[in-house]
Amino acid sequence: MHEKSIELLNKAIADELYAVHQYMYFHFLCDDQGYDLLAGLFKKTAIDEMIHVETLAERILFLKGEVEMKVGGEIQKIKDVEKMLEHAAKMEHESAHDYNIWANECSSNADSISKQIFEGLVADEERHFDQYDTEADNLKKFGDGYLALQSIERSKKMSAGRPTE
Ligand SMILES: [Fe+2]
Ligand SMILES: [Fe+2]
Repeated sequence: MHEKSIELLNKAIADELYAVHQYMYFHFLCDDQGYDLLAGLFKKTAIDEMIHVETLAERILFLKGEVEMKVGGEIQKIKDVEKMLEHAAKMEHESAHDYNIWANECSSNADSISKQIFEGLVADEERHFDQYDTEADNLKKFGDGYLALQSIERSKKMSAGRPTE
């Protein structure tokens, strides 16, 4: 009865799982270089996306559908921090765009709960976009000093015996 919603919810899960993989990859690389602020942001956002997977999967099961758990893409092995932030912001922008359209599709198929789920995700993805966009702007504004400062903060924490995350 709600085949179209189930298809869209599964497409969204694929998108979210791709984001989890991509952001954790960025998290590992930033963490390795001591960029704690960015490492933390990528990890926190990956966890948000995992919670999105859960919300979407619960809805599919409620609609008596199959949770496919396909990953929507291969991760991009980007090493440059500015390019990481640009890629992440683009992903969020595209997700928000798709979810807006899919919310309308669910609505026109008389599935208002799936519509509300997609609308809730749009709000989260727009917030994620804003966070990545702000950090990309900071990096452009402050240049390498922005990254150096994060490494120095890490060194200070470590020499004080405080955990780095
Ligand atoms: Fe998400
Ligand atoms: Fe997101």
